[in-house]
Amino acid sequence: MKDILTLGIESSCDETSVAVVKNGREVLSNIINSQIKIHEKFGGVVPEIASRNHIEAISDVTKKALEEAGITFNDIDNIACTCGPGLVGALLVGVSYAKGLSYALNKPLTGTNHIEGHIAGNYISHKELKPPFLCLIISGGHTHLVHICDYDKFEILGRTKDDAIGEAFDKVARVIGLGYPGGPKVDKLAKEGEPNITLPKTHMSGLDFSFSGIKTAIINLHHKSPDINKADLCASFEKDVTDILLENTIKAAEELDIKTIALAGGVSANSYIRKQFLNLEKEGYKIYYPEPILCTDNAAMIASAGYYRFISGVTSDLTLNAVPNLKIGE
Ligand SMILES: Nc1ncnc2c1ncn2[C@@H]1O[C@H](COP(=O)(O)OP(=O)(O)OP(=O)(O)O)[C@@H](O)[C@H]1O
Ligand SMILES: [Mg+2]
Repeated sequence: MKDILTLGIESSCDETSVAVVKNGREVLSNIINSQIKIHEKFGGVVPEIASRNHIEAISDVTKKALEEAGITFNDIDNIACTCGPGLVGALLVGVSYAKGLSYALNKPLTGTNHIEGHIAGNYISHKELKPPFLCLIISGGHTHLVHICDYDKFEILGRTKDDAIGEAFDKVARVIGLGYPGGPKVDKLAKEGEPNITLPKTHMSGLDFSFSGIKTAIINLHHKSPDINKADLCASFEKDVTDILLENTIKAAEELDIKTIALAGGVSANSYIRKQFLNLEKEGYKIYYPEPILCTDNAAMIASAGYYRFISGVTSDLTLNAVPNLKIGE
């Protein structure tokens, strides 16, 4: 069978990224232009600034992705771009650029869901991984427990009812003065602390999650006792949110009788969460997570998800638009 080269384009938040991926699994290039330094001084992503920077970066990033892959535009078989969810102005840059390329090169276009992209990061890191499996998506804007029935068939089993877990990590970090983006900083500091602070755990019915109570408790504790040990606070926060993640994931795995569990999204780079999930392998589970660069936003994961859409016959036309609240499977 002829190889299929997908050009992936990602611009949903503050990373402008373009990648070339062969047959959905082999990364030939994955260029990521992060705007973290630009947004750092504002303590979070400023949407308008993100859009402007995507516009400035996207042509150069694409050129580099093609060069590094050793191909030209003519070699591409399909263009996959993130069309949602994300910041509308940021998404529009990638979608418009991809539509322009598709029209000019007369190549097929596949609008791709960013969250399906996070799941697909696992297909790149683990060539043997195939559906069905259970995926816990823990990212900056989402916390979803999903049954991946097939490459293009998803069943959402549980989701957060308030904050996404990444949002909670970032908020905790900001309040205790660690800065932005908070997740990696909490991860590092927690290693120096002990989980010895009691925090309220919210148990939702079914397989849903809630993280706003624990986040608020940390904020209140820090305001009331500014001298509280920050490392202990981070370790306690990480332990409690991980317990909640484990509890629901195991419940779902037992209900569905599934032994394969994948983690996805930026927070799946967290070392404590990875370690605790890996412990499940002693109980007969197989645990997957992407390599760190494929956990946070990148275009290789979009190319992989777009490839599986493309080979199932899904393509988009030039009416493709950015959909900020696009749902998984849509
Ligand atoms: N080591 C880590 N520990 C905890 N959180 C982390 C770590 N590394 C990154 N994160 C968090 O991951 C999030 C970014 O991940 P990601 O790129 O998946 O989110 P996003 O693209 O902003 O949101 P979404 O994918 O839901 O639209 C941030 O909240 C960041 O703090
Ligand atoms: Mg993301």
